[in-house]
Amino acid sequence: MHSILELQDIVEKAIKKVQYPSHPARLYEPISYIMSLGGKRIRPVLLLLSSELFNDDVTIAVEGALAIETFHNFTLIHDDIMDNAPIRRGKDTVHIKWGVNNAILSGDVMMVEANRHLTRLDTTVLKDVLTCFNDTASGVCEGQQLDMEFEQRRDVSIEEYINMIRLKTAVLVGGCMKIGAIIGGADITDADLLYDFGVNFGLAFQLQDDILDVYGDPLKFGKQVGGDIISNKQTFLLLKLKELASTADQALLERLGSSTNHPQKVEAITELYNRYQIREIATAEMERRADIAFTSLDQVSISEERKSELYQLARSLINRES
Ligand code: IPE
Ligand code: IPE
Ligand code: MG
Ligand code: MG
Ligand code: MG
Repeated sequence: MHSILELQDIVEKAIKKVQYPSHPARLYEPISYIMSLGGKRIRPVLLLLSSELFNDDVTIAVEGALAIETFHNFTLIHDDIMDNAPIRRGKDTVHIKWGVNNAILSGDVMMVEANRHLTRLDTTVLKDVLTCFNDTASGVCEGQQLDMEFEQRRDVSIEEYINMIRLKTAVLVGGCMKIGAIIGGADITDADLLYDFGVNFGLAFQLQDDILDVYGDPLKFGKQVGGDIISNKQTFLLLKLKELASTADQALLERLGSSTNHPQKVEAITELYNRYQIREIATAEMERRADIAFTSLDQVSISEERKSELYQLARSLINRES
């Protein structure tokens, strides 16, 4: 069994080895750019960890890990266009550097590259992996569509929000776990339990991302702090605030929603979050989701010792700063 650090190293080395064509340069350069900026690499590492629960030879899952990380980076390029985001991993976003049209097309070709990686998997698992990958990918698109539609709405419920983040973020984490399990040779019960672990853990992960969007340290976060507030994202934090705010504060919030003075808007809404202890409430919800995730992991029919790296990684991600 490998440690998390060893698995991260396997992922980094495999990413470095991938060669993209050199022409047209403006199509392929953004791929090398975004893929080389790092990131936590949690999805490929989770996929390898999941496979390794069932099979000691982790090399069989590396192409699956590459497919998932390539797909994830593609979604980030397109997400940054949709969210009008200037910074990703501490650097200019792809659409800022190369323009929106290039960012769209480089993203498209990354989806193709992700599929190329999958075709190199063993044919005995390929069909099941591809089915899971396709279900995951359409889920992400559905979630992203809802996320954008919610920006224009004022009546989003917490239930609708949870469904939206399940689609845009959590199904991909679940997909990583299930694809890893399939490649490793798990039976369907264990593969589904790992999927459930991934989905609930993914919900916790997105809740923490929403918290960091307000409270992250700009030097560590690598993205624009306050971006969700600026674009009126209906996050758990905002929905809870709406639920708890006094009538006067609700009116203030409504006015701030249409403000174009971004620094003042971020400061004033953050102040409201602080006043109503929204960070603490969101953190408690995140921990509750993580606990649900661990209940599924407990039931996977593998020794606790073999699962220990997975528990450790999941716990460290709940307390992350970026
Ligand atoms: C960002 O994902 C998008 C979300 C689903 C929150 P990560 O936080 O995993 O981003 P990187 O890959 O580490 O940069
Ligand atoms: C990310 O949601 C979901 C996808 C990229 C599919 P966010 O918009 O919150 O992600 P960040 O915060 O920009 O990384
Ligand atoms: Mg987004
Ligand atoms: Mg975004
Ligand atoms: Mg975010």
